[in-house]
Amino acid sequence: MTCIHCCGAESIFDKKEAQKNLKAYRKKGPNKTTQILIDTMSKQGIEGLTLLDIGGGIGVIQHELIKKGIANSTDVDASTSYIEVAKSLMRENKTEDKMNFIYGDFIDASSSIQQHDIVTLERVVCCYPDAKALINESTSKAKQYYAFIYPMDTFLSKTSNKLLRLYFFLKRNPFRTFIHSEKMMNDLVVENGFKRVTHEKAFPWRISVYKKSR
Ligand SMILES: C[S@@+](CC[C@H](N)C(=O)[O-])C[C@H]1O[C@@H](n2cnc3c(N)ncnc32)[C@H](O)[C@@H]1O
Repeated sequence: MTCIHCCGAESIFDKKEAQKNLKAYRKKGPNKTTQILIDTMSKQGIEGLTLLDIGGGIGVIQHELIKKGIANSTDVDASTSYIEVAKSLMRENKTEDKMNFIYGDFIDASSSIQQHDIVTLERVVCCYPDAKALINESTSKAKQYYAFIYPMDTFLSKTSNKLLRLYFFLKRNPFRTFIHSEKMMNDLVVENGFKRVTHEKAFPWRISVYKKSR
């Protein structure tokens, strides 16, 4: 992975953005898509399982699933500011013995990351140019469940994305967002040995949860 992606991620997912996320989480709890994912995972019976959250941001999925009884979590994130906030929440919740953090690009760090029972990616694939590489590498880390949240691939989201990319270009920020084909991503997860168990919509997002089938 290029430095361009991670340097761009650092400047977009910065201290200010991390604090904004923290304030919203404290005030309202998890956002709608995160809550759907947490509720769906909880219904699967996840007590004692391990979690790998890729691009975990300030760590909402991890904190919430630890409350639901998972054994431990590992977060891999390309933003130091987000990791710092996730760690401060961890200290506040006294969950230091259950949480691990890896800073960097998941694809670069992947060879040193072991398999986990659950792998989650919320709003990460849309930050990543090569969805196939990200999905292939991340599904290989999931022993039981794979769950990801991504933008719908309609004309409207593609047009909004073009405007967003223009904004980054004008701001001279190398970071870019991507709308990948929903069918291509779903087919790839299935090809990699998973069966989709739930598929929910919360405009403009899709929340898909898969269970290992072979
Ligand atoms: C839009 S934020 C989503 C954060 C969180 N999952 C949420 O939904 O609130 C994208 C997150 O993915 C991280 N990220 C983007 N590309 C990444 C990569 N290649 N490896 C690891 N983290 C990445 C960013 O640093 C950021 O924390």
